[in-house]
Order: sequence, then C-alpha cells, then structure tokens
Amino acid sequence: MIVNFDKYIDNRHAKLSKFDGLRSLYGTSEDTCISMWVADMDFNPPAAVIKALEKEVSHGVFGYYGSNKSFINSIKIWMKNRHDWDISEEWCSVVHGVNSGIGMGLRAFSEPGDEVLLFSPIYYSFFNTIKNNGRVAREIPLRIVKDQYEVDFNELEKRLSGKEKIIIFCSPHNPGGKIWNIETLTTLAEFCKRNKIIIFMDEIHHDLTYSDKPHTTFLKAAPEAEDISLIFTAATKTFNIAGCHTGTTIIPDPKLRSIYDREHAAIGKTPNRFGMIMTEAAYREGAEWLDQLMDYLENNKKIFTSAMKSTKKLNVFDLESTYLAWVDFSQLNISEAELKTMLVNEAGVAPSFGSGFGNTAGKFARFNLACRREILEVAIQRLANTFL
Ligand SMILES: Cc1ncc(COP(=O)(O)O)c(C=O)c1O
Repeated sequence: MIVNFDKYIDNRHAKLSKFDGLRSLYGTSEDTCISMWVADMDFNPPAAVIKALEKEVSHGVFGYYGSNKSFINSIKIWMKNRHDWDISEEWCSVVHGVNSGIGMGLRAFSEPGDEVLLFSPIYYSFFNTIKNNGRVAREIPLRIVKDQYEVDFNELEKRLSGKEKIIIFCSPHNPGGKIWNIETLTTLAEFCKRNKIIIFMDEIHHDLTYSDKPHTTFLKAAPEAEDISLIFTAATKTFNIAGCHTGTTIIPDPKLRSIYDREHAAIGKTPNRFGMIMTEAAYREGAEWLDQLMDYLENNKKIFTSAMKSTKKLNVFDLESTYLAWVDFSQLNISEAELKTMLVNEAGVAPSFGSGFGNTAGKFARFNLACRREILEVAIQRLANTFL
C-alpha cells in the first residue's frame, strides 16, 4: 500500500503537546506559528496500528494486560530483521517510555549526589531526569568536525571527577542526527569498562535512518560491554505513537537485570494495554510504512538542508538519522534571546532552542522536519524571508 504522507490531517484539537506548548512555552499559537519543536510527526501511524486499536476499542475489554510474551516476541523479531541483532526475550522489560526507563535506571544504579556523564549538546529531558532524581549532570562537550559532532575522548579523560557512575549516550544522536561509527562505540565501551561506569544507551532513534548510512546497535559493535550496558528503545518515535508511552529496556547481563528489575517492581510493572497493542502491531506490520516514511523524510531533509545552506548565513548539520535538523545560527552574531524573537515572532516558526540541550548550543536551534511538504515549504519561506 502506498502511504500518502502529504494527506492533510486536522490535528489542531488533538490535545497535542506541540500546540499546547506553543502557548505555554513560546507565548504564541498555531494560528501564527509553525510548531517545529516536539519530536513527533504530523502523520498517521501505520494503518495496522489504527486497525489493532479499533479492534480493541470495539471489543470493549480493558482489564489489566496479561502475559507480555507475544509483545516481547515482536520486539525480538524487529531487532533481528531491522538491526540484525539477536536478543533474548528475557533481556526485555516493558517500561512507560524511555525517559521513565532511564529514570528507573538512575535510581537503580546510582545514589543521590552521584554524577551522570552526558556528551552535550544532548536531548534536553536527560538533564531534568537527572536533576529530579537528585543526581548531578556532568556535561562533556562534543567537538564539531565538518558539520557534525565527534566525541572527544581526550577531553573526557581530562574532565573525570571520579564521582561518575553512569553515562547516558544517545545513538543515533539527538540533536545532531549523528550515526556514531563503530570505533566511537567501541572506544566508549572500553572507556566505561576501565572506569567502572554503567552505560545507558538510548537508541530510540535507531529506526529513523536514511539510505546512505546504517546505524549499528551498540551491543553489536561492542559485545564486550554487555555486562555494563542497558539499552533503551521504543517504537514510539519510529511509528509516531509517542502518546502510547511504551518502551523497552534491554539488559543482557543477569546481575544488572535483577538490580533494574527490583527498582521496576518498586513502582509497579503492569504495562499500558493500549501501548502494548499499538507497539506490537507496529513492530509486526509496520516495516513497509517505515520504508516509505524514510523516503519521504529524506526528501524533506534534502529540501530543508539545501534551503538553509543557500542562505549563506545559516548552516545545518549533516542529518544522518532522525527528522530533527540542527541549525547553526552563529554567523548571525546575535544572542539566543534575539534569535528567539526573530524565529518565533518575526518568522513565525517555533523550533527547540539550543541552550536546552547543554551549555555549548546557545547559537543552535532544532527543527522538526516530520511534517507535510507543504508546511515545510512555508516554514522554509518564512525562514528565508527573515534571515536572507
Ligand atoms: C533521545 C530521546 N530519548 C527519549 C525520548 C523520549 O522517549 P519517551 O517518550 O519514550 O520517554 C526522546 C524524545 O524525543 C528522545 O529524543
């Protein structure tokens, strides 16, 4: 079936964070501003997801969800087919999303006051999750090399305080869209083993890759890190079902798994029935939809990147994965406050602003390109009118 990603969907009254946040965070509304900040998409999920949910609703039986065997089996098959990664079903815990899974992990593997390493800029919620759990985020800046980020392992060694218990790493990277090479992943594994640091590997963007560059699952690149690693995944980004808040924490090592499991049991493990139904349908029947989505997004990415580069004043990072474009406004020599005014109030476009992603990113903004082409073209025109 050919999916029409250009189809208009009226989502303005769907209680979406992307629109409500325009009012609460940006002081504007969808009437004047294009919302390009939150990382979800403007498209319907695969038809199979909607069909599965319709079946569930028409049956009208909404009791506690029972055995998750079939759900976990769908993840195992997805990892094998899509990522050539053999996982064992017993490694998987169903969690209420990646952020929630990471929060549990922080409590399981560190104490209040312990430090958590982050290579910044990085997905902003990690900072909140670390802080709200009474842990301390320690930022190590990524290095920019030819319009992309690199991990600076020398800098990392130099900045170690000895209080680090965990590193949260984002692969592929949000906000840069970088697909890390195998050497970076193996060097990270070796560093963490040597310094007794547990790795939280957030792979939520792993399915959103383009035709020219494959993503390598961390534990395929560095199987020697199995005894220090927790992998966090979900189908929610891939299939645009973020509201179902269901994800999976994959932990091969039995000792780490039992520590995590205790923390998980402490807050209640029963999953969200609707998240289970939607995720399993997506994993079992969504592959063809995803291939078409990535073709559509690849064109959005090309159109946006070439438009930004042609301004000569704005630069955009090479987007190797995800639909989140990381745009560099530093050549304009203006403050972040001025940039916000120009983008939100003059251009009428609301991206996520760089400072939320860490100390070094104030001159950047992240734009969500997972919208209809028509909307993308209006956004590009607005940016061009303001910044040319
Ligand atoms: C890297 C990363 N991790 C986690 C999340 C959120 O995951 P969840 O909604 O499952 O908590 C996001 C959402 O944008 C993300 O980009």
